[in-house]
Amino acid sequence: MGASPEILLTILLFAMSCVWAFPEVASAKHAGITRHYKFNIKLKNVTRLCHTKSMVTVNGRFPGPRIVAREGDRVVVKVVSHVPNNISIHWHGIRQLQSGWADGPSYITQCPIQTNQTYVYNFTITGQRGTLFWHAHISWLRASVYGSLIVFPKHNVSYPFAKPHKEVTIMLGEWFNADSEAVIRQALQTGGGPNVSDAYTFNGFPGPLYNCSANRKTYLLRLINAALNDELFFSIANHTFTVVEVDATYVKPFETSLLVITPGQTTNILLKTKPIAPNASFYMLARPYFTGQGTFDNTTGAGILEYETSSNSTTFTPTLPPINATNVVANFTRKLRSLASSQFPVNVPQTADKKYFLHSWSRKQPVPEKIRPVKGLMVQNFQLLLTTSPWLSLHQHSFNPIFSKNQMGCTPLISQAFLSIHSITQGPHRTILL
Ligand SMILES: *[C@@H]1O[C@H](CO)[C@@H](O)[C@H](O)[C@H]1NC(C)=O
Ligand SMILES: *[C@@H]1O[C@H](CO)[C@@H](O)[C@H](O)[C@H]1NC(C)=O
Ligand SMILES: *[C@@H]1O[C@H](CO)[C@@H](O)[C@H](O)[C@H]1NC(C)=O
Ligand SMILES: *[C@@H]1O[C@H](CO)[C@@H](O)[C@H](O)[C@H]1NC(C)=O
Ligand SMILES: *[C@@H]1O[C@H](CO)[C@@H](O)[C@H](O)[C@H]1NC(C)=O
Ligand SMILES: *[C@@H]1O[C@H](CO)[C@@H](O)[C@H](O)[C@H]1NC(C)=O
Ligand SMILES: *[C@@H]1O[C@H](CO)[C@@H](O)[C@H](O)[C@H]1NC(C)=O
Ligand SMILES: *[C@@H]1O[C@H](CO)[C@@H](O)[C@H](O)[C@H]1NC(C)=O
Ligand SMILES: *[C@@H]1O[C@H](CO)[C@@H](O)[C@H](O)[C@H]1NC(C)=O
Ligand SMILES: *[C@@H]1O[C@H](CO)[C@@H](O)[C@H](O)[C@H]1NC(C)=O
Ligand SMILES: *[C@@H]1O[C@H](CO)[C@@H](O)[C@H](O)[C@H]1NC(C)=O
Ligand SMILES: *[C@@H]1O[C@H](CO)[C@@H](O)[C@H](O)[C@H]1NC(C)=O
Repeated sequence: MGASPEILLTILLFAMSCVWAFPEVASAKHAGITRHYKFNIKLKNVTRLCHTKSMVTVNGRFPGPRIVAREGDRVVVKVVSHVPNNISIHWHGIRQLQSGWADGPSYITQCPIQTNQTYVYNFTITGQRGTLFWHAHISWLRASVYGSLIVFPKHNVSYPFAKPHKEVTIMLGEWFNADSEAVIRQALQTGGGPNVSDAYTFNGFPGPLYNCSANRKTYLLRLINAALNDELFFSIANHTFTVVEVDATYVKPFETSLLVITPGQTTNILLKTKPIAPNASFYMLARPYFTGQGTFDNTTGAGILEYETSSNSTTFTPTLPPINATNVVANFTRKLRSLASSQFPVNVPQTADKKYFLHSWSRKQPVPEKIRPVKGLMVQNFQLLLTTSPWLSLHQHSFNPIFSKNQMGCTPLISQAFLSIHSITQGPHRTILL
């Protein structure tokens, strides 16, 4: 714009859905409006990497629909389940201030929504603005049930950085050729690591570096890592960008050519385009950072950044660090600092009210079937077990361990296997309830 050559920046991805305008926002004249959404949970046949499978989606879309609001708005989402699976939706990163019932983790704040049931999530976005996302919060349904949740600043409040020309949302995710529910079920039964995914995706598509992957579309850079478990490196060939916000919190801007984004994390970047449109296009790549012992999906997801002039030219590839480059990750995370301006201060509590002792474990086969689960967690020496009522309702009743079953109407989930572990963990451990 202005004196510089007019460059039409498009980001061509092997993908879908692009929202260049925000009609919902345009119609919101003042802060504090209520935005209504309807999520129909339904099965949909989706094809990637030449594999077609029926999967759980919201409104038949993968990734799911985008939620847009302004800071101060109330969001009301009516979720109706048309699938056999139990499900609940978590608004990842939203601070649920006195709206715990809308947080979404199954068996923590609510019973899962069962077939033909409806649940209304109702919460207000307070003191947050930026990129967040929503996803399913039970088992591994988050593999296919996720979407962006964009919170614009209040009306009349600008970004604490230069106004971008356009905004683009990029959701990194994972694709499993197999049913992801079968994958986690198998892992929980064997105690081994779950089978890894077959591809990393950009807005639901694996990109050209995988066999049998095509489907070009255009986009606008709000990065969301909706992968299930993988920390990802992200880079764009021949471009640097400025990180300005992480997890709906502004950060001190810094320039980088490489990003590290963990599962569940979001990052907003300002992409600097070339002053003169190059006759080239540029890969955006996402690949894992991994140092553990288990298996992981060691493949590379890709999108393409293309200038108007670069339709049939060379495509450059960025250099990503080695898979185990911990020093690179440490360097990156050290740069993340709160904006801490007068408008966006950081009020970190200076004293701790309570200290927590956490202990988690995981063990491999062979274990007798009855002493499952093979993985578990203890807090303050209390073993956390799946309960018949959501924990939030137990909390409301002062965590009374003799709390009656089915208080919230959930059908008991605890099997004999869970009951068994109770008896073997007596002693120094205590069990919250069964
Ligand atoms: C998915 O495809 C199968 C086989 O073609 C078909 O029977 C089924 O109805 C389809 N499911 C949906 C939700 O379209
Ligand atoms: C859900 O509703 C449909 C249509 O009313 C009905 O056919 C089906 O049996 C119901 N399923 C369950 C599990 O309630
Ligand atoms: C959402 O919650 C507010 C405050 O509790 C309430 O006034 C409003 O009626 C609720 N809306 C819906 C659709 O449940
Ligand atoms: C927008 O900001 C201007 C200048 O700060 C102020 O005069 C005006 O009242 C504000 N408008 C709204 C709707 O808040
Ligand atoms: C996991 O991978 C193994 C080995 O490839 C395969 O035999 C098994 O069927 C896979 N499990 C699922 C649930 O896809
Ligand atoms: C694509 O297919 C070719 C030929 O079958 C194979 O050599 C190559 O490893 C495959 N690439 C990926 C990313 O799967
Ligand atoms: C991209 O970067 C490569 C390697 O640094 C360089 O050789 C190439 O000229 C650059 N291309 C463009 C269009 O900037
Ligand atoms: C991951 O794949 C890259 C090449 O695609 C290879 O160089 C590297 O050794 C692999 N790493 C692991 C841990 O499998
Ligand atoms: C693309 O290819 C066509 C035909 O080969 C050629 O005429 C055109 O100049 C090329 N465009 C670019 C931007 O390289
Ligand atoms: C990363 O892995 C390579 C190959 O396994 C090894 O040589 C190197 O020491 C590792 N680097 C770090 C930082 O762990
Ligand atoms: C990490 O940052 C330090 C200081 O800026 C630099 O000297 C070092 O090369 C960086 N290491 C990596 C692996 O980026
Ligand atoms: C759904 O949840 C209920 C109550 O927790 C449970 O009885 C039922 O088996 C679950 N259904 C599925 C398909 O997991």
